[in-house]
Amino acid sequence: MVKLPPTFTLLLFLAVALADSATEATIVSCLHDSGLEVDDPQSPDWQNATTPFNTKFHWIPAAIVYPRQASDVKNAVLCAVEHKVHVSALSGGHSYSASGYGSRDGALVVSFRNMRQISYYSSDNTVLVQPGIHLGDFALALYTKYRRAMAHGICPFVGLGGHVGFGGWGLSSRSWGLLIDQIEGAELVQANGNIIHVSATENPDLFWAIRGASSAYGIVTQYKMRTQKAPDSVIRFAFNFIDPDRSPDKFARVLSAYQDWSLTAPKEIGIVINVWQFGRTLEMTGYYLGNRTDFDPVAKSLLGATGQPNTTYMQERAWILALIEANGGTNLSTEGIPEPHDTFYAKSLTVSTKVPLAHDSFINLAKFFTSASVPNNFSWFIQFELWGGGNSAISSVHGNATAYPHRDHHWVCQFYGRSNGSWPSQGTAFVDGLVNAVTGMQAKDFGAYANYLDPYLAQWQEKYYADNYPHLSKIQQETDPSGVFLKAQNIGAAK
Ligand SMILES: Cc1cc2nc3c(=O)[nH]c(=O)nc-3n(C[C@H](O)[C@H](O)[C@H](O)COP(=O)(O)OP(=O)(O)OC[C@H]3O[C@@H](n4cnc5c(N)ncnc54)[C@H](O)[C@@H]3O)c2cc1C
Ligand SMILES: *[C@@H]1O[C@H](CO)[C@@H](O)[C@H](O)[C@H]1NC(C)=O
Ligand SMILES: *[C@@H]1O[C@H](CO)[C@@H](O)[C@H](O)[C@H]1NC(C)=O
Ligand SMILES: *[C@@H]1O[C@H](CO)[C@@H](O)[C@H](O)[C@H]1NC(C)=O
Ligand SMILES: *[C@@H]1O[C@H](CO)[C@@H](O)[C@H](O)[C@H]1NC(C)=O
Ligand SMILES: *[C@@H]1O[C@H](CO)[C@@H](O)[C@H](O)[C@H]1NC(C)=O
Ligand SMILES: *[C@@H]1O[C@H](CO)[C@@H](O)[C@H](O)[C@H]1NC(C)=O
Ligand SMILES: *[C@@H]1O[C@H](CO)[C@@H](O)[C@H](O)[C@H]1NC(C)=O
Repeated sequence: MVKLPPTFTLLLFLAVALADSATEATIVSCLHDSGLEVDDPQSPDWQNATTPFNTKFHWIPAAIVYPRQASDVKNAVLCAVEHKVHVSALSGGHSYSASGYGSRDGALVVSFRNMRQISYYSSDNTVLVQPGIHLGDFALALYTKYRRAMAHGICPFVGLGGHVGFGGWGLSSRSWGLLIDQIEGAELVQANGNIIHVSATENPDLFWAIRGASSAYGIVTQYKMRTQKAPDSVIRFAFNFIDPDRSPDKFARVLSAYQDWSLTAPKEIGIVINVWQFGRTLEMTGYYLGNRTDFDPVAKSLLGATGQPNTTYMQERAWILALIEANGGTNLSTEGIPEPHDTFYAKSLTVSTKVPLAHDSFINLAKFFTSASVPNNFSWFIQFELWGGGNSAISSVHGNATAYPHRDHHWVCQFYGRSNGSWPSQGTAFVDGLVNAVTGMQAKDFGAYANYLDPYLAQWQEKYYADNYPHLSKIQQETDPSGVFLKAQNIGAAK
């Protein structure tokens, strides 16, 4: 690198700083002139306002704007276009790589913290809901006010806006579908500022595209979605297999048996296997949409296949209690509770029903985590989520019916490493090692799930979107030719 004289460096620095603050001042004043609520780098709560759930990533926006209605979003987008600033919507801020903050410095972030309303229409059992609502508050409002329910994730702080943009899976999804499958229509602010409606009959191409890749096509300001009658009760269950010896053979035997069994599992069962730190415990947990009479034979066939667990929990639970329990017992309401944070890196693999995981892959996985050294201040878990199998509603939809393509997939597996200090450089290699232990044993293409956004994923276009990518890319070029919403791993972004 050329060494510049100190005064020159200082001048250069000042020039850059001035140019930066000039851009910011103009977009910020444009936002103020439009009567919008704005945070900029001089705001006292700027640090807090820009800190994402995953503190491993921290982008510095040009400004954050807090709309109260679609026309505010439109005005914010127009300011950004005028000042050539990229725009990114932010709902719950729980993206795995802080993508809501723009995936780069200098974006205009459109936060939905003031747009969290929900209204229910008993005439057709639909809700109109704004994207800023958190999933916990959403489930609670649906149930306590209207005795309704939907299929979605249950981590209370996750925002609806991001979750429904890329799939949205929960324990009732095998019965009711992914969250995208429950959408009837949406209101969208486009790159040119137009506010449009999308549905099966209005702008159907965009309706297709936002159900799996929403953030590339605009900012959704409202969804219309179908709801279900909340069940009076469900059967909560948890079966723990505890092996103090951490034998790879035993680990693989339980997982293989579970995998075989789940190929024909009834849609009423929502189930995951969690493998916690060290891999001594394999926890099968979830709930069954039905009563004990119906569940008992299902449990019997599952445990007949896997062998008896060391601990067994089976209880009839009211719907909302089942959601709370499935979330580890914490409250669903996020009102007034400080935002949690984590420091982590995660990867996902979608596993096809036609080519399930090989027994040797399970063995190799267990061999890896029982022998690899774990970095300081680091812990990990793996989750095998059952999406397909049997008569699952997720798989009943064709892979090209929505932007989310992996409809024939049996499992989505998630490999998650977290640190309670600063991120250890070996942490990334450890998580990669878990994944490579599985993929290295079988020659096949695994996909990935865009809601478990992995910023280091190679060939993300194919992994997330498979055969749907070319069509998605074409629609993106038509609706946002100048790339207002462009950011890393958004449709249209460079390889
Ligand atoms: C603790 C935890 C638990 C999770 N559990 C599950 C689970 O059970 N099932 C599951 O499927 N996923 C789960 N996820 C993943 C989760 O679905 C995604 O991280 C989701 O994208 C987060 O949404 P958000 O609104 O909180 O994030 P944000 O960071 O606000 O947004 C994520 C992305 O969506 C875009 N976006 C947000 N709002 C809009 C909008 N209004 N219009 C257009 N684009 C928008 C953003 O620009 C960004 O690209 C979990 C994540 C965490 C951290
Ligand atoms: C920090 O920001 C979050 C998200 O915008 C907000 O909910 C919270 O109230 C803020 N906390 C403080 C102390 O300002
Ligand atoms: C259990 O649910 C089934 C319907 O799935 C119903 O036919 C049966 O009567 C119920 N049994 C009990 C004991 O409630
Ligand atoms: C769990 O059960 C298995 C098989 O029955 C047994 O080998 C193992 O020791 C048990 N684990 C504990 C912690 O008791
Ligand atoms: C969480 O829920 C419990 C039980 O419903 C309640 O007693 C407690 O006050 C709640 N805590 C917060 C912070 O809302
Ligand atoms: C951090 O995590 C490590 C590993 O899980 C644990 O041993 C340690 O007690 C934790 N430290 C703090 C301060 O929480
Ligand atoms: C989806 O695939 C089916 C079957 O291959 C085909 O008939 C249909 O035209 C496809 N639809 C779209 C929108 O590509
Ligand atoms: C572990 O985390 C603690 C608490 O955050 C921190 O003080 C310590 O420096 C960390 N240790 C390492 C080796 O990163």
